Formats: sequence, C-alpha cells, structure tokens
Amino acid sequence: MSLDRPSHSHLSGLRVRMSMRNERVAHVTPLLPTAKLQKATLLNFLSTLQQSGVSQVFTSALRPREQVFFHDLGFVLHEELLLLGHDFSKPLNAPMKQTRKGRRSDWNQILDIDAIAFSEFWRFDDAALREAIEATPTSRVRVSAQNQISGFAITGRSGRTGFLQRLAVDPRYQRTGIGRSLVADALLWSKRWFVHELLVNTQIGNVGAQNLYESMGFNKKSDGLAVLKWNANT
Ligand SMILES: CC(C)(COP(=O)(O)OP(=O)(O)OC[C@H]1O[C@@H](n2cnc3c(N)ncnc32)[C@H](O)[C@@H]1OP(=O)(O)O)[C@@H](O)C(=O)NCCC(=O)NCCS
Repeated sequence: MSLDRPSHSHLSGLRVRMSMRNERVAHVTPLLPTAKLQKATLLNFLSTLQQSGVSQVFTSALRPREQVFFHDLGFVLHEELLLLGHDFSKPLNAPMKQTRKGRRSDWNQILDIDAIAFSEFWRFDDAALREAIEATPTSRVRVSAQNQISGFAITGRSGRTGFLQRLAVDPRYQRTGIGRSLVADALLWSKRWFVHELLVNTQIGNVGAQNLYESMGFNKKSDGLAVLKWNANT
C-alpha cells in the first residue's frame, strides 16, 4: 500500500485512514469478521507503516472478539466505550427543534462544531467525517437549522441495524434541546426504514451523552466496545 496517498485506502479487509492532522498517526477499521483477517498480512502492514514514519495506529471501536484479535497483534487498550441500543419498543417523540439535510457545503461548519465539541483525540478531520458518512450503505446527515448550524448528527443503516455515528452540538447552544431533536430525527428516520435497533457508542464518563441517550429510550448493552492502539516503539 502506498502511503503517499489520499487519506483512505484498503488492505485485505481493513480500511486505513491516515490522520490529516498528524502524519505519524493512522486509524484502522476492520471491514470483515476478524476470523477472516490474516495476522501475518497485518503484521507486515504495521511494519510498513512504521517504516513510513507512522508511530501510532488506533482502531475503530471494536467488539470484544475483535479486540482479542488486535491484542494478539500487539495492540493495547486506549479507551473503553459504552455501547447503547434503541430497539424501538417505546413510542418515539418528534423533534422539538427544526433540522434540515446537511449538505456538502455545510462540511466546514460541521467540522468546526466537531472541533469545539470533542476533545482532540476524538475530533474529526475531513477524512474522518467522510468515513463516518460512508461507513454504511445509506446514511443521513442532519444539521440544526436556525440561522447558522449549531449541531449535527450522522446516522447510518446497514440492513436492519442503524448506527448513530456522530452527534455534536456547539457548546454555546448546548442544553437547549438540539441534541435531543437530532437524536429524535435519527430514531424516526431509522424506524421509517424498518431498522430493528439503533446503536450508538459513547465514552465512559460522557455523562451528558449518556443521559441524553438513556432519556430517549436507549439501553446499555452488555458487550462494551474499546478503541485499541498500537505503538511502533513498544
Ligand atoms: C451530548 C450532546 C450532543 C448533547 O447535546 P445538547 O443539545 O446539549 O442536548 P439537549 O439540550 O437536547 O439535552 C438533552 C438531555 O441530555 C442530557 N444532557 C445533555 N447535556 C448534559 C450534561 N452536560 N450533563 C448532564 N446531562 C446532560 C439531559 O438529560 C438533557 O435534558 P435536560 O436539559 O432536559 O436535562 C452535547 O453535549 C455535545 O455535543 N457533547 C460533545 C460531543 C458529544 O459528546 N457527542 C456525543 C458523543 S456519542
């Protein structure tokens, strides 16, 4: 794989995204069940990355079985995440605040909000935003729609499973019902397309997000997720 690349590439069942902020950082997402990934190929790949100057590789949020596979490759825990799901067994509320479709021309504003809402590690760059939108066969980008954009949500669906991929509200407008309206929109859209469960993950300790999701009918799932990291020098 060439690393003089645009920001994304694929390697035998793995999507690789080079950080646009830090050329020494890469992000990987398994696209296949880990049983189908070749350990030797991935070890070679890590070595190629290291030779190209990459010093840290982070995984996407992994389920427990995927974590075992990456642990065996030398990855260690970076952060545990909470996984929540909504099974649509309870009635849904309509959004209180207006939202509209997010357009390509909104991306800069979306990225600005993302940058002030999230801490540095979790912050999206352009490639990460694109990856979140393209992670599922179908996705929906919504923005809160007063004069300027004050929040956004990205929701995807694959078969009967939905994923609330991203949600952020400009801190100046938080606690005014925008987050709740964006989640309500995501739930209604998912239900309209016969999604059985809408999943979302959040950092353990993100009390605001957890309260929001639980107050809207999401329940914690037992199998938590984790982001793992690989350090070239250890
Ligand atoms: C989480 C987030 C999207 C909530 O957006 P918001 O517009 O402030 O949410 P709302 O005003 O609709 O709040 C809805 C409910 O969420 C809960 N909530 C939101 N922020 C909270 C906080 N800081 N502390 C405790 N509960 C909070 C409350 O139950 C709130 O209802 P209430 O105001 O009636 O008490 C926003 O805080 C944010 O962008 N955080 C940073 C990015 C992030 O963590 N995104 C989610 C990652 S999965």
